[in-house]
Amino acid sequence: MTEPQLHVLADPALAVGELLADAARGGEAIVLTGGSTPGKAYMHAAALEPDWSAASVWWSDERCVPPDDERSNYGLAKRTLLDRLAHQPEVHRIRGELDPADASGEYGKKLEGVALDLLLVGLGPDGHVASLFPHSPQLDERERLVTSGPAGLEPFVDRVTMTLHALLSARRIVFLISGAAKADAVERAFRGAITPEVPASLLRDGDAPIDVYLDPAASGG
Ligand code: 6PG
Repeated sequence: MTEPQLHVLADPALAVGELLADAARGGEAIVLTGGSTPGKAYMHAAALEPDWSAASVWWSDERCVPPDDERSNYGLAKRTLLDRLAHQPEVHRIRGELDPADASGEYGKKLEGVALDLLLVGLGPDGHVASLFPHSPQLDERERLVTSGPAGLEPFVDRVTMTLHALLSARRIVFLISGAAKADAVERAFRGAITPEVPASLLRDGDAPIDVYLDPAASGG
């Protein structure tokens, strides 16, 4: 079991941008995430380190939309990070334009045997992490690295997501969270019981260190 370290900062995206830039310099296998929060961290990381050629990037989850759709998690990272780099990393995106089961199968095969160094994730107001929603059957997948299913929150498009098994294989886990709407979920995910009612809490059930970067509003302050 891991005790998460909480870092309350006025602008946590800047600290996470630095972590990403360091990981890129170190040639790490970096797992990116989606949502509205990480774009600023990606832009900061690209400004700090424009050469990501030693690194590889993966995604924790994807919305089942084409890569140029504004809801695409890959699309977010392309606009805010990849398009701003002088030298690209190896990019392993989830193909959201495919049938969800096919995209999940394809991505699962690519992930086999890959050692993930840094997992960046956000936290949903309902406690979801990646696209693992409270009490969803996807939480029970114990063998596959990737699965798919419906969304529990907006945008309501099917999702392809790493399973707990894959998320917990990362060497270290970093959460980036902002806004008062997340304060209750922060309390439940990092200080409450480890339970499928709060999928993010289940990441505490592994050995990987967890650092949570959050702003004062998300910390309930
Ligand atoms: C997604 C995600 C999801 C996200 C959280 C936080 O595709 O939506 O990967 O898990 O990280 O919902 O999202 P916000 O940054 O929008 O709050």
